[in-house]
Amino acid sequence: MTAVKNPLSLEELAATVSTCKRCPLWEGRTQVVFGVGNPHARVMIVGEAPGKNEDLQGEPFVGAAGKYLNELLGIAGLTREDVYIANILKCRPPGNRDPLPEEIEACTPYLREQTRTISPDLIVTLGNFSTKFILKTEVGITRLHGIPQMAGRFKVFPIFHPAAAIYDRSKQEAMEKDFRTLGALLAQDDGQVTPEKEKEGL
Ligand code: URA
Ligand code: SF4
Repeated sequence: MTAVKNPLSLEELAATVSTCKRCPLWEGRTQVVFGVGNPHARVMIVGEAPGKNEDLQGEPFVGAAGKYLNELLGIAGLTREDVYIANILKCRPPGNRDPLPEEIEACTPYLREQTRTISPDLIVTLGNFSTKFILKTEVGITRLHGIPQMAGRFKVFPIFHPAAAIYDRSKQEAMEKDFRTLGALLAQDDGQVTPEKEKEGL
């Protein structure tokens, strides 16, 4: 008989990660920012790393980028309660510098476990670090954003990072377009029986 390993519950995993010292970022953190949201979400959003506000409050995307993200979710017909939000790194890099490859390597087994447990229909990757990690690609977000991809059994939809678009009008337009596309993708395969589908016997 093959042993089937059940995914850890999110609570069990969060408790483990809360004391993690697998990379040096533990020394500078106020607390681990594990992730937040609906454990049965259809959509999982993956950002980069906690910033100052996230480190203080223990929740992803609560600062300026988070406020903008909430608006963008609205364009796709989503609220924060509908989604699960996590980051590539669970601890804040000093001065919000880019994640280092060794930090990503140390921390991402946690993200993988979160993804397995939540098992979303679709993963939205925000920005380069998240997109490159999930899609195992070197292609940048400027080329990939707004184009649905697959990573194993997961649909992936790459979008610019909201922090990169806050002060850049041209990116804002692209962001809003991509979130409209996201809304359409979700409506397309929400599995609900619509009168149209019924008529077509689907
Ligand atoms: N930027 C991120 O990538 N994640 C956060 O949680 C906040 C800002
Ligand atoms: Fe552990 Fe990740 Fe924090 Fe590094 S960033 S200490 S691997 S939880």
